[in-house]
Amino acid sequence: MTTKAPSVEKILPAIEDFLPLLGVDYIEMYVSNAKQAAYYYQSAFGFQPLAYCGLETGIKDRQSYVVCQGNIKLVLTSPLGNNQEIGKHIEAKGDAVKVVALTVDNVNKSFNETVLRGAKPYLSPVAEKDPTGEVKRAGIHTYGETVHMFVERKNYNGIFLPGFEKWETNYQPAEIGFKDVDHVVGNVGWGEMNKWVDFYANVMGFYQLISFDDNEISTDYTALMSKVMVNGNKKIKFPINEPAEGKKKSQVEEYLNFNGGAGVQHIAITTDNIIETVTHLRSRGIEFLNVPTTYYDTVYERVGEIDEELNAIRELGILVDRDEDGYLLQIFTKPLGPRPTLFFEVIQRKGAQSFGKGNFKALFESIEREQELRGTL
Ligand code: FE2
Repeated sequence: MTTKAPSVEKILPAIEDFLPLLGVDYIEMYVSNAKQAAYYYQSAFGFQPLAYCGLETGIKDRQSYVVCQGNIKLVLTSPLGNNQEIGKHIEAKGDAVKVVALTVDNVNKSFNETVLRGAKPYLSPVAEKDPTGEVKRAGIHTYGETVHMFVERKNYNGIFLPGFEKWETNYQPAEIGFKDVDHVVGNVGWGEMNKWVDFYANVMGFYQLISFDDNEISTDYTALMSKVMVNGNKKIKFPINEPAEGKKKSQVEEYLNFNGGAGVQHIAITTDNIIETVTHLRSRGIEFLNVPTTYYDTVYERVGEIDEELNAIRELGILVDRDEDGYLLQIFTKPLGPRPTLFFEVIQRKGAQSFGKGNFKALFESIEREQELRGTL
């Protein structure tokens, strides 16, 4: 018999999942120019046109473009002058994530169970209808001004949501291999880590997968704490970062300053072929965090043999990490907008279920070089 300590998930009691989540339904960003943003996410990242709402569809206070790729739906929303909530969000944060929507089987139950456990309501359950069926939605607040919407669409056959129409355009640059949302990371304020870990545990029934303390994720200058919260069926993974004291300003603190508080730091997206995906992205002008040149000198010692050609990995600046279940390849874009806030991660998992802990130090050293250039270190 082995005496190896069981992992956290193996010692968890079998309790009923009161909030079964089917996946990330959509991610909505409030942006200053939805029309131009849609063009950017199409051109740069290969998202495809899906749906539209605005004045032409009877929506008076906002315009939204919905773009999709694989199972990912990105909603880009701008105010039409008289929507204070969206306008203020953009003024405070620049283009930023407002909603991480989760598909559920039962919106009323999801809303009631979470509110009963202490969630602050954002939107009470509402049924929206059109000739193709009905969608129910409700929302609760999470960190910062971010919201989780619950979406029940089992009785709906429309293109996206009632109120939207199909967005027809001749401009459809090729997809680049994005498949699914792997995880969505939130940056929270000083001392707020446990509050939000407790929120996901107690209010949403998540559990903590792994944790790093600030000694594990620190360089000469930056430090942070990170905990990963995962839901019952492990479809939804929400790592949470909190800044920690270092010699200079933590990258999480820099984010908090530019975002006016807590918010979504990055969205990690899966691909089945990261070499192809990153090759496409680089050819479309997407910039990634630079990897220290010495990183690849020791990559085989750290992760052992990998299927991919090391030269291709090195030339594209892809990071590699291994855990007990396999390995993963990942890369981080530079910020998507003018502020050093939101960015994308592209990830290919080859067995590994972790998040690239071994790469954190290499990555942070790279982020620090970028911070240095911005004069915010
Ligand atoms: Fe990540």
